Amino acid sequence: MPDAQRPASLSNLHREEMAQGLLRISCRYQPERLLDDSFTRAGITLPASLAGAVAKRRCEYLAGRWCAREGLRSLGVDAVPEMSRSRAPVWPEGTLGSITHSHGIAEVMVADNRYWHAVGLDTEQWLSVERANRLRRELLTPAELEQLAGLTPIQRANRITLIFSAKESLFKALYPLTGKRFYFQDAERRDARSLTLLKTLSADWKKGMTLPFRWRERQQGVLSWIALPHP
Ligand SMILES: CC(C)(COP(=O)(O)OP(=O)(O)OC[C@H]1O[C@@H](n2cnc3c(N)ncnc32)[C@H](O)[C@@H]1OP(=O)(O)O)[C@@H](O)C(=O)NCCC(=O)NCCS
Repeated sequence: MPDAQRPASLSNLHREEMAQGLLRISCRYQPERLLDDSFTRAGITLPASLAGAVAKRRCEYLAGRWCAREGLRSLGVDAVPEMSRSRAPVWPEGTLGSITHSHGIAEVMVADNRYWHAVGLDTEQWLSVERANRLRRELLTPAELEQLAGLTPIQRANRITLIFSAKESLFKALYPLTGKRFYFQDAERRDARSLTLLKTLSADWKKGMTLPFRWRERQQGVLSWIALPHP
């Protein structure tokens, strides 16, 4: 195959080493610039299930895979993770990672599994006060809802967005390890930096376990992640 060419729909590739064996790669994507041959030229296979998808979906998939391949190369692996039936990416042996995309930016974390056990990454736009209010009972547990008391409407909306994103990161980190779907009432933020499992997912991931998350402010939103080193 000829050298992969970066499609015009992708730009601003950025790479950051977060810790030993843990990288974050991001790029911008523009669905309106996606061409019929963008996948072929990039050397990335479009899954059959996405053949009829709208340009935005195909382009975000391409952007995520492009970033994933860049990150894997930095770990010495030349591969593009496939999409499993559950939609979780299938990371090549010796690696793990997570993908998120929103509003024209794709972000990927890849990790060397000699050091890292679980990785989940998610980005969300800050929810508006109205939307956060509508979604709060779905996303937050009763104890998390109580913790909103005393916050201004904007602070509440931002807290709800952050909990939402952290829980999605948790899901992306643990689903590949447990094969179990779990939902927003199955984990709880009990302090500013961690989530506690309210449900046992497997013998290794039990109710009561506390998992640290990190986050950064993003253009009009939040990027959160969970990266757990081996015990
Ligand atoms: C799967 C889910 C987390 C994706 O999040 P999203 O905000 O909709 O979309 P994002 O852009 O952030 O992430 C999409 C990427 O997640 C990854 N992903 C999808 N399903 C996944 C799974 N089961 N496990 C791990 N990663 C998964 C994929 O890489 C996908 O991108 P791709 O299809 O281009 O490869 C979300 O749709 C979902 O089902 N949430 C409900 C489960 C949940 O969050 N529970 C909370 C537990 S406390």
